[in-house]
Amino acid sequence: MQKRIKILAIETSCDDTCVAIIEAESSSSNEKKGASFKILSNVAQNQSDIHTKYGGVYPMMAKREHIKNIRPMYELAMEKAKNPKIDAIAVTVGPGLEPALWVGITFAKELAEKLKIPIIPVNHMEGHIFSIFPTKTKTFKVEKGKNFFPILSLLISGGHTELVLMKDWMKYKKIGETRDDAIGEAFDKVARMLGLPYPGGPEVGRLAEAERQDILLGGLGSATARARGIFQQKNIRTSQKNILSFCQRITFPRPMIHSKDYDFSFSGLKTAVLYLIRDFKEQFGEYSKKEIPNILKQKIAREFEDAAIEVIVKKTIRAMKEHKIKTFIVGGGVSANKYLRQELNSAIVNLQKETKNKIRARYPAPGLSTDNALMIAIAGYFQYKNKKYLKDFDKIKAVGNLSL
Ligand code: KG4
Ligand code: ZN
Repeated sequence: MQKRIKILAIETSCDDTCVAIIEAESSSSNEKKGASFKILSNVAQNQSDIHTKYGGVYPMMAKREHIKNIRPMYELAMEKAKNPKIDAIAVTVGPGLEPALWVGITFAKELAEKLKIPIIPVNHMEGHIFSIFPTKTKTFKVEKGKNFFPILSLLISGGHTELVLMKDWMKYKKIGETRDDAIGEAFDKVARMLGLPYPGGPEVGRLAEAERQDILLGGLGSATARARGIFQQKNIRTSQKNILSFCQRITFPRPMIHSKDYDFSFSGLKTAVLYLIRDFKEQFGEYSKKEIPNILKQKIAREFEDAAIEVIVKKTIRAMKEHKIKTFIVGGGVSANKYLRQELNSAIVNLQKETKNKIRARYPAPGLSTDNALMIAIAGYFQYKNKKYLKDFDKIKAVGNLSL
């Protein structure tokens, strides 16, 4: 029997207060065949303006903002969906910032109590895996055929860097993870060192891309050209010449690129950026209190992105090869990075040529790489179909370090 259900999903694990409502229907009596979905609403209130001032997310500040935003977001989602009757509430229970998670969980409990409906606790990372399914349209399908497996998921966000192997839906085996900073966290910290606003990933990506364009344009793109222009002026200051030669010598390490496991480490890379800026300020005393020049920012951004992405691509491709992966899923905020997608795609093309096996690569649609409640609703639906919902709400708790 086909049954349509409506799920309201809540996501408050970090700095976005998100609510989504979906209508889902199994494609056949055999739920393994998947389901079709209709997005009734998907809204979010981002807090980055507030966190920008402090250069990062402080859990208690995030909590305060979620408390302010959760009801307006719920009301907006309901209004956009034309006030449907909700059958179940999916809520992120971890991993994430516990004070922030609790805001969503408490709201979900109160609402579920009032509506007398169950709650589906959802793992945020499972949400990121399911974020690849929605397209740009309001309806989409999730096919769950066996021929997709094995699947490798690369989950890269502000809190995680993980390679997860899946031999069936909802069955996860983590084969690698970061031993220190997450990749998104490294992007954010480097951005902060460069005086760029939070969240830093898109900003660092933008500078790195500009720098790469200069090189692609024959080495005379804007930033380099400007610096060379200075060279050609009559009264050139020696320090400007030296800044350019300092920039041209920048290289950063590729941490753990040759290690046999699938683990990552980004804290050394971040420290290399810190030391480089310190060395620069020591050598060019006039910058000790000033912002570092743009040409240096661009160089750092590019070299940092090159290093971080080279390690990720190399290890991911090795994991695909070893596990004979048929489908590759990338999720989490950093999956929005254009250069990462480009590098992964070209490495996959080469791997396919080598192994003669086709690999489907799937990335989230625009806007769904970073946190959203739509992905929680989809993961929640499949958990619901597996009867993983609860009517006893006391058991539902925030677990900051919840693992897949
Ligand atoms: O998944 P997400 O929204 O939140 C967590 O679960 O952590 O990921 C946020 C992270 C931030 O570190 C942000 O800087 C990074 O994703 N990010 C990016 C890009 N867009 C977001 N990093 C690199 N390039 C991007 N285009
Ligand atoms: Zn996330």
